Amino acid sequence: TGQDKEMAVFSVPSYACQRRTTLDNQNTTLTDALSLLAENAELSDEDGRGVAFRRAAAVLKALPKPVTDMAQLRGLPCLGEHSLRVIRDILENGMSSEVESTKQSERYKALKVLTGIFGVGAKTADRWIREGIHTLHQLRDSGHTLNRAQQAGVFLHYDDLNRPVSKADADIIGETVGKAVDAVLPGAQVTLIGGFRRGKLTGHDVDFLITHPEEGREEGLMPKVVSWLESRGFLLYQKTTRNSYLECKDGPARPPSNIDRFERCLSIFKLANEETGGTTQLETLTENGTEPAGHRPWRAVRVDLVVSPVSQFAFALLGWTGSKLFERELRRWAGYEKAMSLSSHALYDNKQSRYLRATSEEEIFAHLGLEYIPPSERNA
Ligand code: CTP
Ligand code: MN
Ligand code: MN
Ligand code: MN
Repeated sequence: TGQDKEMAVFSVPSYACQRRTTLDNQNTTLTDALSLLAENAELSDEDGRGVAFRRAAAVLKALPKPVTDMAQLRGLPCLGEHSLRVIRDILENGMSSEVESTKQSERYKALKVLTGIFGVGAKTADRWIREGIHTLHQLRDSGHTLNRAQQAGVFLHYDDLNRPVSKADADIIGETVGKAVDAVLPGAQVTLIGGFRRGKLTGHDVDFLITHPEEGREEGLMPKVVSWLESRGFLLYQKTTRNSYLECKDGPARPPSNIDRFERCLSIFKLANEETGGTTQLETLTENGTEPAGHRPWRAVRVDLVVSPVSQFAFALLGWTGSKLFERELRRWAGYEKAMSLSSHALYDNKQSRYLRATSEEEIFAHLGLEYIPPSERNA
C-alpha cells in the first residue's frame, strides 16, 4: 500500500558495539519504558531479564527515526516477545500497563528510594523492603546499623547525590583533580571518562582515569592524590581500593571478563557553588531533614578515580567510557565472535594463547575486527 512505501524500514546489526548510538535518541518514550523495566529487573536480581530489556532499548536508540508501526521492527535483532509487547502497547494505546503498574508499585518506589542511597545496592534494599522498610524515615527508625558509605548516603548527602551533576561541575572537579595529580606526581595525566566522555550533559557522578607515561610511576599514586584532596577539604568521603590485578594469580593470567582490579577511589567531593552573590533559593527543610542545598555554599558530588599503568591505559579508557551496555556487548562480541577475552586491563586471544597489545582504543577495535566507534557514539 501507499502507506507502506512511506514507512521507514530499519536495519541494525546485532551487537551494540557494531552500532553508532549518539545521544540523539528518536524513540525516548519507548526506550524510557524499556529502561524502566530493565531497571526494575536488575533491582530484583533478575539480571537476564534486565539485559534483555537493555538490549531491546539499545536497538531502538540506534534507529534514525521514531518508530510508528510494529511492521518497521520486523527483522530487527534483540527484540524479544516481552519487549515487543511493551512497544506494541505504547504504539497502540499510548502507554504500557506493565510499565505504569511497575512505576506505581510500592516495591519499585521503595527500591528507587533505598538504592538512591550511596552504598546501598539491590540486595540490601531488597532485604530492607522485606522487613517493611520503604522510606528513609523508616530506615532511620529501624535502628539498622549502617556502614560509613551508607551513613554518608542517607544522613548527609542524599539529596545532593540524587541530583544530576552538570558538565560544568564535572569540569571544575576535573581542574581540582588535575591540580592534585600534578602536585603529587608531575607528568601524570588525568582523563575524563564515563558518561561525560560520551558527551552527556549530566551524570550521576564524575569519573576520571589517571596514568603516567612512564610505566610504574603511577604506583602508590592514589593515596597521595587522596591526601592532597583531603587535606584541602575537597573530600566529604572516600574509600580507596588497592590494585589487585597483579595479586590475582589464577594460572595463566587470563583476564577476568568483568571485574576490574585497578587502584580506585570512590569518593564524595565537596564542590563549591559558583559565586552567584549569595543565597536566593528559599528552602526550608529537605524531606530527610538534611541541610538544604540553598543554605550552604557547596554541594556533594560522587566522584570515581581510577589509576591505570600506561601499558593498560587504552583498555582502561575503553572499559571505563561506557555505556555499560556497550561494554557488555564488546565483551560478548570478543568472546562469541572472536574467541577473545576483553577486560579493562587487557585483551587475550584464546586461539593464539597470547595477549594483544594496544596503545589506543582504535587498536583495540581493530584487534576485535570492529569498525572504530568514537565515545560520542557509544551511548547504547
Ligand atoms: N565501571 C566499571 N566497574 C565498576 C563501575 C563502573 O567498569 N565497578 C565502568 C562502567 O562499565 C562504565 C563506566 O565505568 O563504562 C562508568 O560507569 P558509571 O559512572 O556508573 O556510568 P556512566 O556511564 O558514567 O553514567 P552516569 O552519567 O550515570 O555516571
Ligand atoms: Mn518475559
Ligand atoms: Mn559516571
Ligand atoms: Mn562512576
